[in-house]
Parts: sequence; C-alpha cells; structure tokens
Amino acid sequence: MATIIKTTEQIEKMRIAGRLASEVLDYITPFVVPGVTTGELDRLCHEYMIKVQGTIPAPLNYAPAGYPPYPKAICTSVNDVVCHGIPGAEVLKNGDIVNLDITVIKDGFHGDTSRMFFVGTPSLAAKRLTEVTYECMWLGIDVIKPGLRLGDIGHIIQQHAESNGYSVVREFCGHGIGEKFHEDPQVVHYGRPGTGELLRPGMIFTVEPMINLGKRDVRERTGKLADGWTILTKDRSLSAQWEHTVLVTQTGYEVLTLSAGSPPAPEILQDKKSAETTLVDGR
Ligand code: MF3
Ligand code: CO
Ligand code: CO
Repeated sequence: MATIIKTTEQIEKMRIAGRLASEVLDYITPFVVPGVTTGELDRLCHEYMIKVQGTIPAPLNYAPAGYPPYPKAICTSVNDVVCHGIPGAEVLKNGDIVNLDITVIKDGFHGDTSRMFFVGTPSLAAKRLTEVTYECMWLGIDVIKPGLRLGDIGHIIQQHAESNGYSVVREFCGHGIGEKFHEDPQVVHYGRPGTGELLRPGMIFTVEPMINLGKRDVRERTGKLADGWTILTKDRSLSAQWEHTVLVTQTGYEVLTLSAGSPPAPEILQDKKSAETTLVDGR
C-alpha cells in the first residue's frame, strides 16, 4: 500500500471529519469526573456522534486482521493502559489519568484525535508525564513540511520524551488516514533524522505518541480480563497519549482535529520559534 495524496475535495472532507472528532472531545470534557464509568463516557459520546453530529464511530466493530471486532464507540485508556482500552464498568477515581480516543466517519472520511484528561486532581508525576507527552506530539507536528521525512518527526518526539526520563512505545504508531481508518504510512514516534518517507503536500496522517513513565515495553491484557485489544505497560507505570490528524501543506502543516475546546499549543513551541528568530535576526 502506498501513501495516498489527497485531492482538494478529499482534504475539505477531512477538515470536516477532523473538526467533528475534536468536538466530541469538547462535548465529553465536563463528564470526565470522579465516579463516572468509562462505559458511560462511551454511551454519551456514541449518542452525541449519532444523534447530534450524524457521524459514525469508526471503532465500533472495527476488526483489523488478528483482532476481534472492537465492541465500543471510543477508546478509554486509564493510567497504565497504553491504548485501546475498552469502555465498561470501570469507575474513574480522583487522581486517575485517562485518554479518550475518538474516531468519527463523516461523508466517508475519518477524523482521529485523542486527549488526556485528569480525573479530579492528578499527582505531580501524572501531570508532568501528560504535559511532556503533549509537548512531544506538538514538537513532532511542528517540524512537518514538504521535504522533511517521517524519521524527523519520530526523532524529535523520542528526543523530548527520553530527555525527560520517559520512554516511547514502539509497537503502536501514527498512520495515514482518509477513506480508511488506518492507511500508509506508519508514523513511528522514534527514529533518526533524515530517514523514512519524504513528506509531500496532500499527505494526511496522525501523530499520536504513547509515552511511558517507566520502561517502553507493553503487554496485552491476559487471563480472565483478556479482550484482544487492551494494551498496558509491562512495568505497570503510567502511560500518556495525545493525537492529532495533520495535513502536509505546500509550506508546512495544518492540524485538522482542532475545535473550540482544543487546548492551546504548548509554550515550548513558541519558545522554540523565538529562539529561531533570535538566531536569524542576530538579536
Ligand atoms: N483511534 C485509534 C488510533 O488512533 C485506533 C483505535 S482502533 C479501535 O489509531 F478499534 F480500538 F478503535
Ligand atoms: Co490514530
Ligand atoms: Co485515535
């Protein structure tokens, strides 16, 4: 499978799907409080997609090779769950961190985005992991422009995570997205500068680093609770993830999964830009 370059018409549809996915996160935000179950968050999101937006939840019954059909509308990954947590009876409690991952289909096109939420008041360690992971995602996005390579994205993410004492999950990655949920290319969140596929205008893919507080190794949920989907950290340390869907433009990038409730880009991007300006201007 080769990376698809989207047409102007396809890009317009991806803008709409992207914004709608982000708006589901805006909608659900006030409900993420101690005492709510992940199943209730799923129910609310599902209803909002179907009844208010007229979107389809892409995860529901999604069954890539080797996986059972995914049984819910969203993914809810709590604490040491790295990704693909299935909503259910789990009650969120004060101090938990949870990733809500939303993928909607509108007019045949997918928008895919996730955010971290603090349930009540987080520990300092959880807060810092979540913030550094957010910086990792944005630092990776902010280098995107034609002529760079996928390895440049992975490298900057890995650099920032590891320099903060964290580790990057290797087994799951970002992905091309469009009429299919998961397309080429694979966007890994580690790597070497100047390697990997060349970025070209019209490419659309996600950047969605999973960053662990401890070691990078992951495991599948096994035993009685095995569900064929849930991925956890092997060492049971906390894991965080943020995700945006991004278009490569002629001059840089456009984030497609923004909405009124999206958190602002982190200060580290501005700091980086003013440092560059200073160098160029010699000030
Ligand atoms: N939304 C996830 C991603 O970012 C994929 C979840 S697959 C599902 O790629 F079936 F679990 F929803
Ligand atoms: Co994704
Ligand atoms: Co996602």
